[in-house]
Amino acid sequence: MNFDDLNFDHFMSLPSKIRRQVLNDPELLKIMVKKNLKESRYEHSLSVAKYARQLAKCHHVDEDKAYIAGLLHDCTKYFEESEHDAYLKYYDPDKLQYPESCKHSFSAKYYLKEKLNFHDRDILNAIYNHTICFSKDRLSVILYICDKREPLRKIDDDIMEMAKKDLYGAFRRLSWDVETYLREVKNEEFIGNSL
Ligand SMILES: [Fe+2]
Repeated sequence: MNFDDLNFDHFMSLPSKIRRQVLNDPELLKIMVKKNLKESRYEHSLSVAKYARQLAKCHHVDEDKAYIAGLLHDCTKYFEESEHDAYLKYYDPDKLQYPESCKHSFSAKYYLKEKLNFHDRDILNAIYNHTICFSKDRLSVILYICDKREPLRKIDDDIMEMAKKDLYGAFRRLSWDVETYLREVKNEEFIGNSL
């Protein structure tokens, strides 16, 4: 099989053996993710994956899961709001009230289930929680932090360093910063993290 032809839309037409192979191989997943995103968003996803793997190692979390969560977390970033809402109306209507900027984290969970038959609950849960983190699960907190502080974001603070030693302390501080940003810069209501 020529893996260069991999993409989300044709994935389910592949033999199940090949599908399993792709879902367990980050290098093959990268081929699909790259086709699905603009170059800058792809580079961001690679960076989130890399730093999520590092934080996972610090906190004894499955490093491969952290890397794959990072790669896939923005897979529905370019959906129209109506596309997010189509998934949310069917699977998760409570989330329809959330700001549009958060909806890609929710729709990604259902998109990955449908498009890739992807069912790793830990990874899906982390992706679901990467914009507003409702979860206390370490993998979710790691993805949340890395999405907001991977170095390509060029935000100069010590959250990533802090997170290596005190994951939940870094998370609480970052949540406060995001709350302020949404209120003061984007004028969006903040609905709150669970920690
Ligand atoms: Fe992201």
